[in-house]
This record gives sequence, C-alpha cells and structure tokens, in this order.
Amino acid sequence: MKEIQLIIDPARVIGRRDPRIYGHFIEHFHNQIYGGIFHPDSPLSDENGFRKDVLEAWKRIKPPVIRWPGGCFVSAYHWKDGVGPERQPHFDKAWRVEDSNAFGTDEFIALCRKLESEPYICTNAGTGTSEEMSDWVEYCNLRKEGKWAKLRISGGHEEPHRVRYWSIGNENYLPGEMGAKTAEEWGRFVKESAKMMKRVDPSIELFAASVADLNWNVHLLKEAGPYLNWLSIHGYWDPHWQNNNLSDYEACMLYTTRIEEQIEKTRHILGVTGYLGKIRVAFDEWNLRGWHHPNVDHAVDPADYVDPRNLNDLDESYTMADALFSACFLNLCLKHSDLIGMANYAPSINTRGLIRTHEDGIVLRPTYHVFDMYRNGLGDQVIDHWIRDDAVFEVASESGKTGVPLLDAAATRVEATGEVVISLVNRHPDNTAAVRLVSRDGRRSVNRWTALAGGSKDAFNDRDHPDRVKPVSLADYTVDGDTVLLQLPPHSVNILSL
Ligand code: AHR
Repeated sequence: MKEIQLIIDPARVIGRRDPRIYGHFIEHFHNQIYGGIFHPDSPLSDENGFRKDVLEAWKRIKPPVIRWPGGCFVSAYHWKDGVGPERQPHFDKAWRVEDSNAFGTDEFIALCRKLESEPYICTNAGTGTSEEMSDWVEYCNLRKEGKWAKLRISGGHEEPHRVRYWSIGNENYLPGEMGAKTAEEWGRFVKESAKMMKRVDPSIELFAASVADLNWNVHLLKEAGPYLNWLSIHGYWDPHWQNNNLSDYEACMLYTTRIEEQIEKTRHILGVTGYLGKIRVAFDEWNLRGWHHPNVDHAVDPADYVDPRNLNDLDESYTMADALFSACFLNLCLKHSDLIGMANYAPSINTRGLIRTHEDGIVLRPTYHVFDMYRNGLGDQVIDHWIRDDAVFEVASESGKTGVPLLDAAATRVEATGEVVISLVNRHPDNTAAVRLVSRDGRRSVNRWTALAGGSKDAFNDRDHPDRVKPVSLADYTVDGDTVLLQLPPHSVNILSL
C-alpha cells in the first residue's frame, strides 16, 4: 500500500475545539434512565439512586452538557408531572409505556451536578404550550418569583437550577412526532415560545428543532431567527427503527463519507438566510446506529413493540465500525468548528450508548474509548492539515462500488504549551496504513501515541470480555529526516502527541 502524506501547519490556527461537541443525550426510553442511570433499588447505586459505576465512568469522559428528557418522549411530556412530592405516573404516548415520573427535573439537575455537566432541557413543542415551556424556565431559573420558583423551593431547592440551554421542540417536522407541525406553524410557534421563555430569563440560550431543509428553516428563521442561538439537527446513518439488521463494517465506513452533506446544507441555509455566524449548529442527537423500536405505532401486544427494544442492548452490535464512525464524526465537528458548537451522543447510557449497564456492573463499548481519547487528549485549537495522495478502498454501494478514503484526520494544538495533538483514523478493514507526517515547523518527535484498534474490525466489549477493545500505546514509527513515517493499524483510531 503506497504512502499517504499528512501535512500539518501548527502555525495556522483555523478554529477552537468547543468541548461541547463531546456532549450527551439521555431519553426516557427503555432502560436509559429507569434501571440504567437511575436505579434506586440497585446495591450499586448511591443515596440519590444513581448507579455509582455509571457516574464514575461517565465522569472520566467529562460530559460538558447533557440533553434530556427526549427525543420523541418529550413531545407529549408535561414537566409538572415530574416535580413536587407526589409524582403521578403518566402514559408515555411516544414509547407507549408507563413512566413513573420518579425521575424529573430535580433528579436530572442532581445528575448533572454530580457529573459537573451543564443541563440542557428539551421542551414539549408537540402537545405542550409556549406557557408550559416558560413555566419550566420559571421553575428552574427564577430566584423565588411566582408559583413555579416557589414550587422548586418547596421541594428543597432554594437556589435556582440555572439551566442555560433550552430547546424548543424535538423533530416536530416529522409526521410521526406527537404534535408535528408544518413549517408555517413551526415558525410562529417557536417565536411565541421563545418570546415567553426569554421574558422569564433573557440569559438562556435557545435552540429550535431543525432539519437540513430550506423551506423549514426559511419559515423558522424568518419568524424566530432573532431569538435563536442554535439550530438543533439530528443524524442516524444506519437506521434500524424496524429491523435490527445492522450494516457491516465496510458499509459503515461508507457512511463516514456522508456525514458532511447535512452540515454543508445547514451552513448554506444559514448563509442564505443571513444567520451564518449568528446562529450555530447543535448536532444534539447523533449516532451511527438508529435505535431499534419496531411496530411502536401499531402493535397491540407489548411483546411486539416493547420486548424488541432489548435488541439495542446486544453488545456485539457495537464494534470498531461504531468507534471509527464516531471518530470521523468528531473530526468533522473540528473541521466545522466555526459552525458546530455542540453535539450530543444519542444516547450515552444503554440502548446504542457508550456505556451499557447490567445488574453487576457496566460495559464500556468501543465508542466510549473514542470519547475518552478525544475529550481528554486533543488540543484546544484546531490547526490546518492536508491529506495528500490519499488512498481509497472500494466498498459496495448503491452505485456498485464506491471508493472510501483510507485516512481521516484532524489536527489540534494546545495553546498553553504548543503541543500538537492529531487524530488519525485508518478506515481500512484489513491493511495497515503507512502515513508520512510532515509538520511545517519541522517537529518530528512523537511524545505519545494511543491507538484503539481491537483484534478485528468486528471486535466488541461485553461483560465477559470488558477489555477486548481498549486504548493501547504504540510506537510503530520511524523518524526520516524532517518527517515521521507511521504505520497505522487496520480499523484504528489513533491520537498522537508531537
Ligand atoms: O430513535 C430515537 C429517536 O430518534 C429520538 O427519540 C428522536 O429524537 C429521534 O428521532
């Protein structure tokens, strides 16, 4: 395999790495909350009912922001059912199960405090009203004025929760969403909701459910653009809502070449509407794999629509394909660091998440390690890089065969120390990639090389083999004049410090 050249220029800073691209999303779905994070009956839980092993692993990847409570769930959720001393169960019309409401706003805030993470609340723009949303802001952010702040205080929370991030709605553009809206309805509704929420607390940052569609955004931004800080978009590239026939490694590598389409389209939409540079993008739900929840809109027997959700928990589903896809996604967030300021992995715990819980402990899936390597390893400045003479490998596609580039990369710099830290992804399923690294400032000493490769492209972790896929230190490089020749293992994510 011929050499690939990667040229980096530490002196050419092109952006800042916003830590919020390593954000998280948890939803009242299956066992993410109840029986996952929040499990009062478990001997592994703390005094607040949170699984201590989940908190410990989650804290290690420093979650900067957590979005909650949905997702589809939120579009028929009434937050007032989830606060106060008496919690009445409600029927969750999105996922058609009973929700005890034991986990509500105050429990979510307590979770964020334990994780030192910013709470991000997504409101009900489906069956909810603008007033209900602004009441939620009163409950969380007013000191003591009005009934809702007083209700919070009566629950023992004297100090405001100070929730900074608020989204109006979740995917209300989708016909299947509770309270779906037309583009015309959406613009007006967001404007009225934003007006009321900002009157309660002008300091909040507002998001609105969006999609890479010109018509949707023209109406949204014409009506509510002046109130918005963020557009919320979502992405699941291997969708398996109905069947669970997950795509193989090679197909997932092809998906990595299709992430940018949505980003570019949204950038152009913001440009044409005059909001580029004023409104940023929050990719506040993303995952290679769509969640599995078949038959939810028509099945009668829970065995046909609730039980199949257990298939999301099969650890063998989450392999190096997930890890490499996530690495490429996060590299793209750096390339578009002027536009993308937040991204939330969907979800973080259980379902297709980073961490899976079972009664005796947790499993760290391969993508958890990508978050660890990136969140804790890369620099705060994004610097310019160029891949020259990239090689491609062929994968099957709708058009027969498509070439997928071997190498994906991102380059960063630690402003305080000048250290350069780069991410290198070798997408090839079988071959080592020879990469000749050329740094414009002549640096060529590798201080640290951490690699996540697993024993095979389909390697995964499970409760009997928790460390089959884990980061290891490598040194398979040679200095050659002013360059460094690296041998990247197949199907690997690599972080190198220079
Ligand atoms: O499959 C889960 C759903 O995906 C989330 O609830 C929703 O926001 C997205 O469509």
